[in-house]
Amino acid sequence: MPHRLAAPLSRRTLLRAGGAAVAATALGGTGLAASAAGALKAGSPAPKATTAPGDLVEIELVAKERMQRILPEPAAPSPLVTYADHFPGPIIRMRKGQRLRATLVNGLGEHTSIHWHGIRLTNAEDGVPYLTQPPTKPGERHVYEFTPPDAGSFFFHPHCNTVELLGRGLAGVLIVEEPDAPKVDADLVCLVKDWQLDKTGAFGAFFTDRGASRAGTFAGVSTVNGQIEPVIEVPANGDIRARLYNIDSTRVVDLRVEGADAWIIAVDGNPLPPRPLDGWPMGPAMRLDVLFRAPKQAGQTVRLTNVYAAEPRPLATFRAVGPTLPNRRFKVRGLPAGSIPEPDLKNAPVIPMAFSATAVAQSFDAATLVGLPYADSLCLSQKTFWAINQQSWPEGGHERLPPPLATLEKGRSYIFELANLTPHLHPVHIHGYTFKVLSSDARKVVPHHADTVLLEPKERLRVAIKADNPGDWMFHCHIIEHQDTGMMGYIRVA
Ligand code: C2O
Ligand code: CU
Repeated sequence: MPHRLAAPLSRRTLLRAGGAAVAATALGGTGLAASAAGALKAGSPAPKATTAPGDLVEIELVAKERMQRILPEPAAPSPLVTYADHFPGPIIRMRKGQRLRATLVNGLGEHTSIHWHGIRLTNAEDGVPYLTQPPTKPGERHVYEFTPPDAGSFFFHPHCNTVELLGRGLAGVLIVEEPDAPKVDADLVCLVKDWQLDKTGAFGAFFTDRGASRAGTFAGVSTVNGQIEPVIEVPANGDIRARLYNIDSTRVVDLRVEGADAWIIAVDGNPLPPRPLDGWPMGPAMRLDVLFRAPKQAGQTVRLTNVYAAEPRPLATFRAVGPTLPNRRFKVRGLPAGSIPEPDLKNAPVIPMAFSATAVAQSFDAATLVGLPYADSLCLSQKTFWAINQQSWPEGGHERLPPPLATLEKGRSYIFELANLTPHLHPVHIHGYTFKVLSSDARKVVPHHADTVLLEPKERLRVAIKADNPGDWMFHCHIIEHQDTGMMGYIRVA
């Protein structure tokens, strides 16, 4: 019963039934949900996760359908799928050095898992069904436990049927705070995401052949933190750290804080020598930490805008509130250095990775899948449009998994030459590692670290890693329809 092939409608029904079957587990008990809400309110102190002795942060994540209003009335609330009572949630904040124990409770009608995007963790905690763990079936629980080695702005999401589940909101935020971060007056999270909703508040098709075979299926309702053009309060004249996330499945954004001097201080959570926020496009899954000074007087505003489209698009407004904080110079200080191991570029072999369309769009014949134990497990889409090194995920055939795209020797350094042979953008993501982004044949690259890099049409981009983390690590485009239709593989480090 590969329900990946089921029609969306019956799938949704299944999901609802599954959600009801699982007893609602209170999340409020940990106090995290409340702090998560607080995190979005400016001026409130940075929320702390509850910590047990031994510096363990514990949270239960109940994945299930929850109704939430995205569109104003008369539209109805929409059937989101979330890990907490409210989107966006939860926002887990922990300090570097603390250990996270997160229990996934599957309240869905399908199997799932949690992938911790951007975290250099042990392979077994990476959350890829069948590759790193058995899928967590409806009603089951799965415990993830790891100590994030890096500070930064991360997030987490499922790694199967992602086009629908992420489309409906299934993602959470994981923030690992630097022990010695520059002090700010507010530390905010801004999740940019579009929703595929019709006028009534119902979800439309997340996947279309037309979209999947081109730039992706765009959703029409732009939001920040699940709200259409929200007003986010910030302390007047305060120094604001805003963690900007693109968690959309498809859209590339290029953000500005109009009316303020805003500086990028981190990319995908990795410190960057501060530079003005002025032309750093973010593909799906990419994050930027920015720093800006809020307007002086209560009531004054600055605007978060997406300038990637022909027409700049306002996304949110930051409004100054409260008494004006004392005058002082706006000094942009960088974040403390990160701890990504330095690749040895001199001795690094170059591995070509070609991102292309498949020669011919392949349709899987459902009949050939029936009875295969992995038909569902590999997160099959019905179609394949894309490939990496001419290999589409899944490869089909009779093996349980396709072979790795590359096998790397543990401890050695490698350069990947990412070649985009298509006329579309591809945000290329690696699990378990952080790329050092080196150079491009198409543009000047600011040296930086990132777990997801935006590959431009026809570009060749060089990135490097030191292969110190053993395991099978996914390597894929983060435009979810591309990922779901073949542009995915894995590298093996042994
Ligand atoms: Cu955020 Cu494999 O992805
Ligand atoms: Cu892509």
